[in-house]
Formats: sequence, structure tokens, C-alpha cells
Amino acid sequence: MKIDVLLGLQWGDEGKGKVVDVLTPRYDVITRFQGGPNAGHTLEFNNIKHILHNIPSGIFREDTLNIISNGVVLDPIVFQREIDALEKMGVDITKNLVISKKAHLILPTHRILDAASEAAKGKSKIGSTLKGIGPTYMDKTGRNGLRVGDIELDFENKYNALKEKHLHLLKLYDFDFSLEEEEKFFEGIRTIQRFKFVESEFLINSLLENQKKILAEGAQGTLLDIDFGSYPFVTSSNTICAGACTGMGVAPSAIGEVFGIFKAYCTRVGSGPFPSELHDKEGDELRNIGNEFGSTTGRPRRCGWLDLVALKYSIMLNGVTQLIMTKTDVLDSFETIKVATAYKVNGELTDQFPYSLEEEIEPVYTELTGWNTDLTDIREKVQFPDELKAYIAFLEKELKVPVKFVSVGPDREQIIEI
Ligand code: GDP
Ligand code: IMO
Ligand code: MG
Repeated sequence: MKIDVLLGLQWGDEGKGKVVDVLTPRYDVITRFQGGPNAGHTLEFNNIKHILHNIPSGIFREDTLNIISNGVVLDPIVFQREIDALEKMGVDITKNLVISKKAHLILPTHRILDAASEAAKGKSKIGSTLKGIGPTYMDKTGRNGLRVGDIELDFENKYNALKEKHLHLLKLYDFDFSLEEEEKFFEGIRTIQRFKFVESEFLINSLLENQKKILAEGAQGTLLDIDFGSYPFVTSSNTICAGACTGMGVAPSAIGEVFGIFKAYCTRVGSGPFPSELHDKEGDELRNIGNEFGSTTGRPRRCGWLDLVALKYSIMLNGVTQLIMTKTDVLDSFETIKVATAYKVNGELTDQFPYSLEEEIEPVYTELTGWNTDLTDIREKVQFPDELKAYIAFLEKELKVPVKFVSVGPDREQIIEI
């Protein structure tokens, strides 16, 4: 058996949570393999909207095992809040959620360091979600981090040693902070202890041997990848398919289908280059119709046209085998839809994602006719307007990968499998 992987191909918020929820009945196991509470994955069903940050999006289906794998960074405070919200909804999750001992913990001082570092950067700030992601991964690669498995091994001393190190570092910044959240942190640690700790690499490989079907749920998106995204305006983990191998402890040969998910247009939240960004009325329309406000921070998302230069790059890096297009309904009222098919970089035409997006980049657009139809109640491909069929055919020809799902609204039911 192989593991299928679902990944965002843009700058995050492509609708991963919704689609993982839709696909979950086809799988025995859903696992998160990188990122942490910087993620905000939205699920909607039965008129309930739920946003998950640390917890895999398979959690609402009782028979599914959910694994927080080693590559994730876990914040006990956010985790506690998520558990409380789920328990209020009557979801008993201690049975179907397990946590890797090797996942790293986000301390309150990691979050303070994140905020201090961003404040010091001033105008050139990353636009981080301020969840402590960067400092936690820095401690992981710097070999100072605290892991979930440490909770059972002289935890308080280890915690205090790392906290002291952080307080020392914070002296480098002119930044006010308080440690009032420490109490909540330890409360969160006690909540984490209610769950089974596992060595996810052994668990996942034995599940595969036992013919269990596993879906790995990516967080963020390829263009935020630490190596291949628009550095330094990126997150601190490998968001690409290769990150699924290191983030779970599985061999590359164990990867099966790679689902690449993208919005029918583009958004980005936080700083950094965005070649097809719209600063005009059409950009505002995309934001308003698409309700483009961050699931984690509430910040307005920057909006623009679909960018095939970026999508081709993401498809190449991930080896995408099937495409999933979301938020298609957001384009319902546009007379003309534009798609960037190349860039002019300093006057020269290219279809390759450039090293520096700081250069003067002018997207070259192809215009397609809009469908001017309400797609939100459509459930079968035969009902697609001709213009939508033409849009999909155009994308498939350019991207050389089939579009297998089209999402037409936030609800679990609003999706068409092709
Ligand atoms: P994720 O981080 O990739 O899981 O995406 P987010 O949950 O942050 O953002 C996606 C937003 O779009 C959420 O509010 C979803 O409820 C919503 N959404 C997902 N798919 C669709 C769709 O096809 N149409 C519309 N209109 N909204 C969608
Ligand atoms: P999901 O999983 C969109 C962005 C932040 C910032 C940069 C670095 O919901 O798609 P970080 O907090 O990681 O230090 O922030 O990355 N970012 C996201 N943008 N969706 C996300 O996750 C994101 N996670 C981080 O806005 O620009
Ligand atoms: Mg999100």
C-alpha cells in the first residue's frame, strides 16, 4: 500500500481542510506531517464551520485514525483550545488521535521570539502568523528543541533550560513581553498527555504493511516552502511532497497519488512577492466574493489571477498526479477571467519561476470567457457550462495533469469528482 499526499500548490489556504474532509471516507488514516498552528484548515458541513490548526482534518469521521507526525510543531495552548472546541461539539477524539513523540513543542517564549524578530524587521517583516513557527524550527535544526516525548522525561528541567536560553536571546531585542501564558502551556501539556504518544514512523510503516489507506495532509503551500518558496517570505518547513517523507518517516517509494490543490485564482497572506496580484476593483471583488480573510489571523488576503508559471513550478517540485481546483464559484460573475501563462522579467519573456521575485515582473495573461453561471448547486460534470469546460481544458493542456475535482462552495457537499 502507498501513501497519498495532498498539497497546496500556491501560498496556502487553497481549501486543503475541506478537500481532506471530503476524501477522508476513502482512507483509514489522515496524518499531518509539517507546519503547526500557522495553518488554519476550514471544514464546513451541516451548517457548521470548523477551523483546525494542529489537528488533522480527518477528525470528524469516527472511524479514521488521525496522526500528528514527527514533522509537525505543536503548540499545547492552541491544541488545548482545539480539543475544547471539538469536545463541545461532542467529538470524542482521544480514541482517534495520536501524537508522535518526535513532534517538537512550541513554547510561549518561541511565540515571543517570533513577535520580537518580526517587530525588529520593521518594513521587511515576513508577515508571520506569529505562532512561533520560525523559532521552533530553528531550535529543532539547532538541536535545542523540546519534543512531545520529553514530556515524560524530566520535562520541567528541560523546559526551564530552554526558556532561559530564550530569555537570554530576547535581551537582544527591544521588545516588551510577559510570560503569563506559561500556566496555560502546562495545562495544554496535561491535555496532550491524555493522548497516546507514538513513534509515527513505525506506526505508519506498519499500517502500510497492513494494507491501510493513508492520506497525508499538507499545510501551507509550495510557494511558502523553506527551500523553494519566495525566500525569505516563506514558512520554516518543507511544504512540498519530499517533506511528507521526512515529516512521517516513510520512503519516497511509499508515496502514491500526489493531489495538488489550487484555487481558481490566487491569494497570499503576509508579505512577499506576488506577480499576478491585483490592486484594483477586480482584486477587491475576489476578496469579497471569496471571503478572503485569513483562517488563523483574520488578515485580509491579497488576491490576484491564477498564475500558471507558479503552478507549473509547484507541479514539478511535487510530482503532482491529480489536480483539485477549489473556489471555482468565486469566479461565477466575472465576464473575463485572466490566467498568467508567462512572465516578462526585466523585459525578457520566461515561463520559469525566477530566482528573485524582487525583479520587475510583468505577468503575461491569456484571457478566457467567464461562465456567468451560479455553480454552487452543480453536482455533476454534465451540468458544467461550456466556458467552465473550456477553462478546465485550457488548464489541463497547459499543466499536463488532469483536474480530478472541482470545488464550487465551502460545504462538504459542494464538490464534483470528474
Ligand atoms: P486551507 O488552509 O487550505 O485548508 O484553506 P482555508 O480553510 O484557510 O481557506 C479556504 C477557505 O475557502 C475556507 O473559508 C473554506 O471554507 C473556503 N472554501 C473551500 N473551498 C471552497 C470553494 O470551493 N468555494 C468557496 N466559495 N469557498 C471554499
Ligand atoms: P494553511 O495551512 C497561508 C504565511 C504567513 C507568512 C509566512 C510565514 O492554512 O494554508 P509563519 O507563521 O509560518 O512564520 O508565516 O507564511 N503562512 C500561511 N499563509 N496559509 C497558511 O497555512 C500559512 N501558514 C503560514 O502569512 O506570510
Ligand atoms: Mg488556511
